[in-house]
Amino acid sequence: MGLLRGVVTALLASKVIATKGLSADDFDVLDYVDPLIGTAKGGHVFAGASLPFGMAKAVADTSGENQAGFAFDTDVVTGFSHMHDSGTGGAASMGNFPIFAQGSCPQDDLQQCQWQLSDRSVSWDKKSVKARPGYFGISIANGVQAEMTTTNRSALYRFTFNETSDQPLSPVILLDLIDLPQSRSNGSANVDRKTGRLTGSGTFGPSFGTGSYKSYVCVDFKGADLRDTGSWMKNQVNASSQTLSVDNSIDSTVSAGTFARFHAPKDKKSIMARVGVSFISVQQACSNAEREQPNFDFEGTVHAAETAWRKKLDVISMDADGVSEDLQKVFWSGAYRTMLSPQDYTGENPLWKSDEPYYDSYYCIWDSFRSIHPLLTLVDPLSQSLMMRSLVDIYRNEGYLPDCRMSLCKGLTQGGSNADVVIADAYLKKVANVDWATAYEAVVKDAEVEPENWDVEGRGGLESWKNLGYIPINDNDTAGEGTHTRSVSRTVEYAYNDFCIAEMAKGMGHQADYEKYSKRSKNWAHVFKPDQKSSIGGVDTNFTGFVQPRYLNGSWAYQDPILCSPLLDFDGCYLNPEGHETYEGSAWMYTFYAPHDMGSLIKTLGGAKSFTSRLSYLHDSGLLYVGDEQAFLPVFQFHYSARPALSAKQSHFYIPSQFNTTVNGIAGNDDSGAMGSFIVLSMMGLWPVPGQDVYLITPPYFKEVSIRNPLTGKVATIRNINFDPTYKSIYIQSAKWNGKPWTNNWIRHEFFAEGGVLELELGPKESEWGTRVQDLPPSLSNYH
Ligand SMILES: *[C@@H]1O[C@H](CO)[C@@H](O)[C@H](O)[C@H]1NC(C)=O
Ligand SMILES: *[C@@H]1O[C@H](CO)[C@@H](O)[C@H](O)[C@H]1NC(C)=O
Ligand SMILES: *[C@@H]1O[C@H](CO)[C@@H](O)[C@H](O)[C@H]1NC(C)=O
Ligand SMILES: *[C@@H]1O[C@H](CO)[C@@H](O)[C@H](O)[C@H]1NC(C)=O
Ligand SMILES: *[C@@H]1O[C@H](CO)[C@@H](O)[C@H](O)[C@H]1NC(C)=O
Ligand SMILES: *[C@@H]1O[C@H](CO)[C@@H](O)[C@H](O)[C@H]1NC(C)=O
Ligand SMILES: *[C@@H]1O[C@H](CO)[C@@H](O)[C@H](O)[C@H]1NC(C)=O
Ligand SMILES: *[C@@H]1O[C@H](CO)[C@@H](O)[C@H](O)[C@H]1NC(C)=O
Repeated sequence: MGLLRGVVTALLASKVIATKGLSADDFDVLDYVDPLIGTAKGGHVFAGASLPFGMAKAVADTSGENQAGFAFDTDVVTGFSHMHDSGTGGAASMGNFPIFAQGSCPQDDLQQCQWQLSDRSVSWDKKSVKARPGYFGISIANGVQAEMTTTNRSALYRFTFNETSDQPLSPVILLDLIDLPQSRSNGSANVDRKTGRLTGSGTFGPSFGTGSYKSYVCVDFKGADLRDTGSWMKNQVNASSQTLSVDNSIDSTVSAGTFARFHAPKDKKSIMARVGVSFISVQQACSNAEREQPNFDFEGTVHAAETAWRKKLDVISMDADGVSEDLQKVFWSGAYRTMLSPQDYTGENPLWKSDEPYYDSYYCIWDSFRSIHPLLTLVDPLSQSLMMRSLVDIYRNEGYLPDCRMSLCKGLTQGGSNADVVIADAYLKKVANVDWATAYEAVVKDAEVEPENWDVEGRGGLESWKNLGYIPINDNDTAGEGTHTRSVSRTVEYAYNDFCIAEMAKGMGHQADYEKYSKRSKNWAHVFKPDQKSSIGGVDTNFTGFVQPRYLNGSWAYQDPILCSPLLDFDGCYLNPEGHETYEGSAWMYTFYAPHDMGSLIKTLGGAKSFTSRLSYLHDSGLLYVGDEQAFLPVFQFHYSARPALSAKQSHFYIPSQFNTTVNGIAGNDDSGAMGSFIVLSMMGLWPVPGQDVYLITPPYFKEVSIRNPLTGKVATIRNINFDPTYKSIYIQSAKWNGKPWTNNWIRHEFFAEGGVLELELGPKESEWGTRVQDLPPSLSNYH
């Protein structure tokens, strides 16, 4: 089946009609996507219905760790809401204006129905949950089965009610002006007595950022005659009042809203609720729903969503012969999760007028620059282009590129100005239709002009950066305000950001800038302390030389090199004021972060052999957690010390041990699909070094995998010879690119841009392939 599948997908891809009767016709990629993976144990994956990059994201909201609304390891459902983020850390995100359905009120008395969130929390049936791309269904203990699907800007719910013996059906559907993070500062709700239309608006706060945003909703019903309407607050209901508002004198945790009550549904015991969402106005929320779902066609909407997802995923095809179903699901589900965010809010941005696309939920670029955007460049270059244009337009209108952005607000910066890496990556890979001159202006501004508040954009400590060449632990920065921690991780990230600017400068012919930023990119070495030792539990690790914090006067401060690793105070290194000098990772790990200058780094760490043993130790000792994105590149960095076989081995260690099909099958938060994209790129066998035109070659986890560029139709195929699905033969013995021997252990984007075949001959033992100095990936400084 695997082989046929690969062939047929390839045929379909080139618009040849497949012969009827082939068993591979049965292959539906959506059967291999499980949206429930990573919905427990802090994965925070959005489990509900969404289009690719869709603004509307409908799901049941549960009580507990509900960053994305629904989490599998919870007990009660509190409502159904229409906008979410996926996989994020920080606080719960959005979930504005939940609706909730009850089949009838006890004794037919409205006052006896459940209104406020704490009262209406209802347990849910784990076995009832069904999640597929574009569809989510769940049964809750009040006898309601809720199903949902979405278009780009509206959700469609189908509530099916069980009749209880003592009470005829007369369903009540309420709208609550609350949101998941309970951040509301004010809001108002209305109900139309004649039609039952519920509308709402409110001002809310972003989940990992500053400021506030306004949001609007519009709910229409179909399937039952309207009985009466009204408003409610806390647990008091008033059927004579059709409006309700709350201001900031009312606690943001208070539930309040409007409702519509119906006579028994006409057939199938179902009522449909169509919910339009908008960031512009109630009117636009209503018109979004009317335009996208004129007919309340549930099956049709599910079908359209499935078609949209198949179209996105069909650019990848493979021969998965011999590979377990589980591993295939891990792969496809990862690809799916990569395309939930950023979300397309074009036409929904109230902040400025522009004809450019507007994407939101870059949540956060610190997480997404390493693998999400490089993967989108391969599988969805059009969306990647629209996203890059949107970033440039944010710069035009807000003055800086974001590092993080959600709900129309500036999000918190975690390290460097890593949008510089995303922009450079897209530039080098020739992503189309981007205004590169303005993009270049934007990245140079990051490097040169410190913003007033560098917690939400740009970089802090630029004066020290320019004069001293590092961020001192006791920086006396007066140019802007920000959290004075992370001096070491910011230094190494700023250095790499400058390298990315240098690459653009070179490509655009800005020679002086190229030289300037190349020079600054070597600043990582200024926080390298050659005689620093590190012990674990009092035993010397026998590795010497680590990045360390430094004072303004040049002398060294000290941070235990294992601090901020899983072995020591792992949870103490976030954006808290006591967050230490390395962010979400140890000095041990950040010592490896010079992706552009590996020749020099390897020399600094004592040569290739010593580098290899140190990198192995990083992985084997428990110092590295693959659930944080900085761990991705070190999986493959053995390529630089001429041991590409060890990268393959390391990749197979993490997948599947840390990534599987269970509800907790993701290490850490998925971070808008970052973990998903790590899986996909690792399993396809070409790891992109973000911000460079470099892919490190390891064997795919499949006999063969192809990516078709959906804009040009060009197909790039990576094929294993001697493929072994038990993964004992994972070492490249030799390679051919389009039939010619290929000895570099890396390849350029040209392979994808032009299409072609990369053949990898595998064996059970490490070989000489890709191990000569001339085979190694590019480095600013020479290898020795
Ligand atoms: C409705 O009732 C049927 C039959 O008793 C039961 O199987 C089903 O689980 C109920 N649905 C809900 C949502 O409670
Ligand atoms: C949804 O939005 C995407 C762009 O983000 C667009 O390509 C697609 O056609 C839209 N779908 C519908 C049904 O309008
Ligand atoms: C709602 O709150 C926001 C933010 O606090 C404020 O700007 C706006 O004026 C308020 N609106 C109303 C109607 O009170
Ligand atoms: C219900 O709303 C009506 C109309 O706004 C109002 O006159 C009445 O006082 C309210 N009743 C209660 C109990 O608040
Ligand atoms: C920071 O402090 C040093 C040493 O006191 C001083 O030389 C330098 O001018 C100060 N820089 C700023 C920006 O205040
Ligand atoms: C480091 O070397 C010492 C002396 O050879 C040895 O006792 C110790 O076990 C080594 N440490 C580790 C972590 O291997
Ligand atoms: C450098 O500054 C630090 C922090 O103020 C101080 O502890 C140290 O003694 C200074 N070193 C020298 C050589 O002045
Ligand atoms: C699945 O992945 C999770 C998260 O990495 C891990 O904790 C768990 O042990 C894995 N389960 C299996 C059966 O491998």
